[in-house]
Amino acid sequence: MRNFTTVNDIGNLQDAVKEALEVKANRFAYKHLGENKTLLMIFFNSSLRTRLSTQKAALNLGMNVIVLDVNQGAWKLETERGVIMDGDKPEHLLEAVPVMGSYCDVIGVRAFARFESKADDYEEKIINQFIQYSGRPVFSMEAATRHPLQSFADLITIEEHKTVARPKVVLTWAPHPKALPQAVPNSFAEWMNATDYEFVITHPKGYELAPEFVGNARVEYDQDKALEGADFVYAKNWSAYADPNYGKVLSTDRAWTITTEKMALTNNAFFMHCLPVRRNMIVSDDVIESPRSLVIPEAANREISAQVVLKRILEGLQ
Ligand code: CP
Repeated sequence: MRNFTTVNDIGNLQDAVKEALEVKANRFAYKHLGENKTLLMIFFNSSLRTRLSTQKAALNLGMNVIVLDVNQGAWKLETERGVIMDGDKPEHLLEAVPVMGSYCDVIGVRAFARFESKADDYEEKIINQFIQYSGRPVFSMEAATRHPLQSFADLITIEEHKTVARPKVVLTWAPHPKALPQAVPNSFAEWMNATDYEFVITHPKGYELAPEFVGNARVEYDQDKALEGADFVYAKNWSAYADPNYGKVLSTDRAWTITTEKMALTNNAFFMHCLPVRRNMIVSDDVIESPRSLVIPEAANREISAQVVLKRILEGLQ
């Protein structure tokens, strides 16, 4: 594997899950792979899980790790070519990226949608500049349109907990006070569409995701109907994708919050969320604390998804 930014980079999903479960059973078996190799993790945005789990995965593989928070202590970076740099950004990404590449063997990048330009966000302008100019393998630690390490961990978690071959998985929008990117739901949909699960997306009108991510999923605007018979409920907020409302909050309707009453409509479903989660906006205290909540094992599997991706990248460097 050279770069990892979408489900297409991981190949056969069954093989990937099998490898993940092997890695999980023996995390230090590949410690030799990362010897004298350095991972540089670059964060344009905050993180708890991605930062810790990816660093732990790299350490499991024997790598050295450097972490850079671009907005804390580094020069502010200009990202647009042609800009007269007489403002508050003293360094251009076009110099910074190859310099960063010269200090490491592999680069992880977190760069969320900025909601300044839908075209720039959906062209993945930032992470693609790292792929183009760093000279190193690059993997996404959540980019503008996708969060594949999260989706891979979600898939591993579903495979570990499913009790039928083809579970019903429901991705439901839930309310949130601030505008959040579409990366997690886009990515989750992309990965679920690559399985043979029954996959349903539910959200209020106006929150339609980009058609390339919806794929063959069934879209059901009635949340109660969508939840009927669900084996897994994956809750997430996202802002509007469609023009002219791109990046806007259209509703904070708490009738969409996942509660015990909502979960009673399901087939005793497991509850999932990528975290961080706003309690009693997205999900009630009772649901997230219930024995059917998978949020902690799901987060723990972030170490495993990162380790499989790093292992494959390192194998490509041998
Ligand atoms: N789920 C996730 O990516 O968490 P962080 O934003 O804390 O990394």
